[in-house]
Amino acid sequence: MIGKRNKFSSKFGFIAAAAGSAVGLGNIWKFPFEVGRSGGAAFLLLYLLFCFVLCYPLLITEIAIGRNAQKSPVGAFKAIHHRQWTFMGILGVLCGVLILSFYNVVTAWVFGYFIEMLLGNFEVGRQFTTFTSDIEMIGGYSLFILAVVAFIVSRGVTRGIEKASKVLMPVLIGILIFLIIYSLTLDNAIEGIKFYLIPDFSKISIDVVYRALGQAFFSLSLGMGILITYGSYLKSREDIVFSGAIITLADILIAFLAGLMIFPIVFSQNIQTDGGPGLIFITMPGIFQAMGPAWGIAIGSLFFLLLTFAAITSIISLLELPVSYLVDQHEIKRDYAVWISAGIIFLLGIPSLIGNGYSEYFTHFIRYYGSEASIDFMTFLTDVSSNTLLPFVGFLTSIFAVYVWKRKKLFRELHHGNEHFKNSWLSNYVGFCLQFIAPVVLAITFILTILEIFFGIYIFS
Ligand code: TRP
Repeated sequence: MIGKRNKFSSKFGFIAAAAGSAVGLGNIWKFPFEVGRSGGAAFLLLYLLFCFVLCYPLLITEIAIGRNAQKSPVGAFKAIHHRQWTFMGILGVLCGVLILSFYNVVTAWVFGYFIEMLLGNFEVGRQFTTFTSDIEMIGGYSLFILAVVAFIVSRGVTRGIEKASKVLMPVLIGILIFLIIYSLTLDNAIEGIKFYLIPDFSKISIDVVYRALGQAFFSLSLGMGILITYGSYLKSREDIVFSGAIITLADILIAFLAGLMIFPIVFSQNIQTDGGPGLIFITMPGIFQAMGPAWGIAIGSLFFLLLTFAAITSIISLLELPVSYLVDQHEIKRDYAVWISAGIIFLLGIPSLIGNGYSEYFTHFIRYYGSEASIDFMTFLTDVSSNTLLPFVGFLTSIFAVYVWKRKKLFRELHHGNEHFKNSWLSNYVGFCLQFIAPVVLAITFILTILEIFFGIYIFS
């Protein structure tokens, strides 16, 4: 055995780390553009619904599984029930590694933009593809980011993950608030707010519902055992029900605030937006440029620094997943486990690295017959990992918790640290969501995604 399990030393430390995992590019980059192209507040309402009905119950379930088993996912399912369920943990680790392989590349772009803004090079937005094709530079940034994260993770849970999150999360919130105040003072800010917050129900289609679901899952880092891992580092007297609520609310709040920061800035320059992924990398630098050099450099670099910090705390959690697997299941020393995992992830990231302009093959990885359309490797990987595997593992987790592990035992675990939980309305609510809503909704989503991605059958669009 490898010594005593390292634990989070405080409630705040745990919440900062778990919220740090949740708050990432998903909140600050993806959420605003999804809102932008999917009917503003209408999307927001759906997103909130999914967060409360599906994600919160699953989030506390994952944490409870981890704490009960005192193991990271692969060992946890085995410890609680049976070897058979081990594959779920493995699927989770695999999915984490895949997600990290491209997440790291996007983080390298974000970090690269931070440097460009510092240098006052606003033209970079217009040359986005040239920028992403420069694989030596991006590869270098991506190695740098991975090395920083590997260093943090190698220091362990308390001294590494917890400590870094306790510093980075408050700084992140500080920068965000500063940027919101700035953006609300701009001309036309109110137009941006209107666009953001007045619902346009005509844009709601099943497709939008589906994207809101995927967004909620990805944003809360659900469905691959990150929270199981973090739960296994939690002391038994901690209140999971309460901490889980804070983590969920913090994630929602930060995504919401990111929109409040971005849309006034966008509208201040009279730019019409339907959002889209280019919002941050293509539109924003032009907007920073229009602010004049001094403000442009200040606001532009703060903006990309914010994104870099948000991404780093998420990468920490993604890297911890394979690391805890190697440490728990194979008794490899933490240091080695960290550098081995980081190395493998870097290598797996190469197709995503070169698939954005540099390599023709990976840039048009999947071509659709009879049309010009194609998708790049990174988009393909997002579809497979976050849109397919996450809801699938989420589905299995709900089944596992209520039908295999059994609701009674789950509730007993949640009861430690929160004595009011057992017979409260909240426990009835959580039980109902896990038993009925989550399995049905997630199974449907999974089937539809498979039809869409692998068979090209689009039910909605
Ligand atoms: N939640 C993070 C974000 O919003 C990304 C992330 C970190 C993630 N860990 C995860 C997504 C685990 C899915 C699963 O950017």
